[in-house]
Amino acid sequence: MADDLFAKAKSAMRKAHAPYSKFPVGAALRTTDGRIFAGCNVEAVSFPEGWCAETTAIAHMVMDGGGKIAEIAVVAEKLPLCSPCGGCRQRIAEFASPQTRVHLCDVEGGVKETVSMGELLPRAFDTELLG
Ligand code: THU
Repeated sequence: MADDLFAKAKSAMRKAHAPYSKFPVGAALRTTDGRIFAGCNVEAVSFPEGWCAETTAIAHMVMDGGGKIAEIAVVAEKLPLCSPCGGCRQRIAEFASPQTRVHLCDVEGGVKETVSMGELLPRAFDTELLG
């Protein structure tokens, strides 16, 4: 189950550096070979330079040698159900398949809804097409 991912995403959220939006987000992903990586959002005073929780988690995976994402959980302190932004959908897709599960979580209630990457990013721009 994804309860462990939710717990990791929630504790990552507590580390968010979000002094401008005051909107902490956490994410945790499991690779197809069973490794777990978590991340929080990191903002900067030059606002566009900040980045998302999902991006931090993906960076940890890449630094550990990369991999494929089997499932990922996302949680935001101030949203009952946090869905990845458009940019993160594209970044997740880079390491995912249309079947990859995305767990949309509530900070108190855990996993609220599970959707697939195929649903979140239909007709994705496919890196394989670049050759
Ligand atoms: N944020 C994420 O970390 N992930 C998302 O999928 C949506 C947005 C962050 C970025 C910014 O630090 C804050 O939430 C408010 O947009």
